[in-house]
Amino acid sequence: MKNILVIGAVGQIGSELTLELRKRYGSGNVVAGYRATKPTGELLDSGPAEVADATNAQQVADVVKKYKIDTIYNLAAILSAVGEAKPLMAWQVGIGGLMNCLEIAREFGCAVSTPSSIGAFGGGTPLDNTPQDTIQRPQTMYGITKVTGELLSDYYFKKFGVDTRSVRYPGIISNVTLPGGGTTDYAVEIYYEAVKSGKYTCPLGAGTFLDMMYMPDAIEAAIDLMEADPAKLKHRNSFNVSAMSFDPEIIAAEIKKHIPGFVMDYQVEPIKQAIANSWPNNMDDSCARAEWGWNPKWNLEKMTVDMLRAIREKKDKGLI
Ligand code: SER
Repeated sequence: MKNILVIGAVGQIGSELTLELRKRYGSGNVVAGYRATKPTGELLDSGPAEVADATNAQQVADVVKKYKIDTIYNLAAILSAVGEAKPLMAWQVGIGGLMNCLEIAREFGCAVSTPSSIGAFGGGTPLDNTPQDTIQRPQTMYGITKVTGELLSDYYFKKFGVDTRSVRYPGIISNVTLPGGGTTDYAVEIYYEAVKSGKYTCPLGAGTFLDMMYMPDAIEAAIDLMEADPAKLKHRNSFNVSAMSFDPEIIAAEIKKHIPGFVMDYQVEPIKQAIANSWPNNMDDSCARAEWGWNPKWNLEKMTVDMLRAIREKKDKGLI
């Protein structure tokens, strides 16, 4: 990777991945691609930013040409809960955007990483120790775009030699940019509410186990996979990766260790609950470990300390 375009650079993952890529590959070599919201602060000041709406092939191609891009991180997506409200838009962004990236990559010789998700599972998938290769019949539009994205990415590799690689992300927990419209968002919101008000109303019921990961591990995964020796990759799109699995009771109990007065109640949102019920409780990520050395560093205990520290700092500065 020399010249990198991040599409979706102001999103939850993009805002942190772009900065880390700039540290590693040089500030001027990593373009923050955005659609409606212009980057601000360090993201804007530390390197180039360009309008690059994934659904606008010309815009993306222009940026790829201008900066001689060799690697595209295509992070544009409508997450699972919003995707149920706006299925057509979820398809247009998820698959329209991906096809543009793949075609541009074919023409200009770029590698492409388009994350898949635990949302790519469902409809008969074994939910415990979910294998790398298994049944994928998701019933959400988000999941349908993710399975389709995996297949298209593999197709472009096999048919055209486009270097496509990606992970299936679990819920990503972070403290820089909020996620928007996902089923796993609760595991971010709970920390903010614990710091702000000491209480949280959870949209998923007790006993709802899902795979999760702290952002620093998610960024390592994104970069390590693209840097991996291709000769060792038996899979391409997409690798199971997980760092922890918990339910709302477990994360609430962990927060209580630091904020003893923290209280959580439940108001289950049926759409989110149905989605969560169809997703793995915990994935088997042994293929990622074996093929490119995936090895997460953050568990629930360490992450909770760091999340509460970071969010308290934001509160002290009046940012939340
Ligand atoms: N975080 C995503 C969601 O909840 C899952 O990939 O939609």
